[in-house]
Amino acid sequence: MIKAFIIAALSADGYIAKNPTAPSTVWTSKEDKKRFVELTKKAGVVVMGQNTWMTLGGKALKERLNIVYSPEPIANLPAGVELTKKSPAELLQELKSRGFKEVAICGGSQIYTMFMKFGLVNRLYLTVEPVIFGNGIRLFKEDMDFKLKLVNSIRTEGGTLLTEYEVQK
Ligand SMILES: NC(=O)c1ccc[n+]([C@@H]2O[C@H](COP(=O)([O-])OP(=O)(O)OC[C@H]3O[C@@H](n4cnc5c(N)ncnc54)[C@H](OP(=O)(O)O)[C@@H]3O)[C@@H](O)[C@H]2O)c1
Repeated sequence: MIKAFIIAALSADGYIAKNPTAPSTVWTSKEDKKRFVELTKKAGVVVMGQNTWMTLGGKALKERLNIVYSPEPIANLPAGVELTKKSPAELLQELKSRGFKEVAICGGSQIYTMFMKFGLVNRLYLTVEPVIFGNGIRLFKEDMDFKLKLVNSIRTEGGTLLTEYEVQK
């Protein structure tokens, strides 16, 4: 099976956003944005839910195939964006047959949860930003039981922690 990785920025208390329409880019560090661009361009394909796509202004992330989970068709899709309702396994199979070697799972919570719970994620790039939200949208929405191995961590001058975890079999 093709490799899928989760990439997300978290508040120190474990939230990815305050609400479904809040863009994540306003509270994340330049180091997180840089890592996001590097890793997603290397993968060449980003998968996200419609809510997340709307927080990006309904535009495509450049130089990457954008796959958006949406229950309904969306009119006037920009170039580079494709809609899907496929199961995670079916989508990964299709992307493999299209020549992709890895897939960046870019959120939000619904999409992270769907790919993680089906055991299709082998790596997580989690950035912990030095902020507290108190309330909001968590990385995952359901009970899960995975063990991780921390394979890399970098602390920036601004107090951001960039981590990389492998999912243990
Ligand atoms: N901090 C970060 O790194 C980060 C990253 C990404 C996003 N975010 C934040 O996360 C928030 C959005 O997260 P979210 O969980 O509310 O939404 P989301 O995961 O971005 O998108 C949910 C959408 O996907 C659709 N969907 C889910 N599964 C589907 C399936 N199998 N087939 C077709 N459509 C499907 C849902 O349809 P239904 O309504 O029918 O279920 C809904 O329209 C935003 O605030 C965003 O800024 C943060």
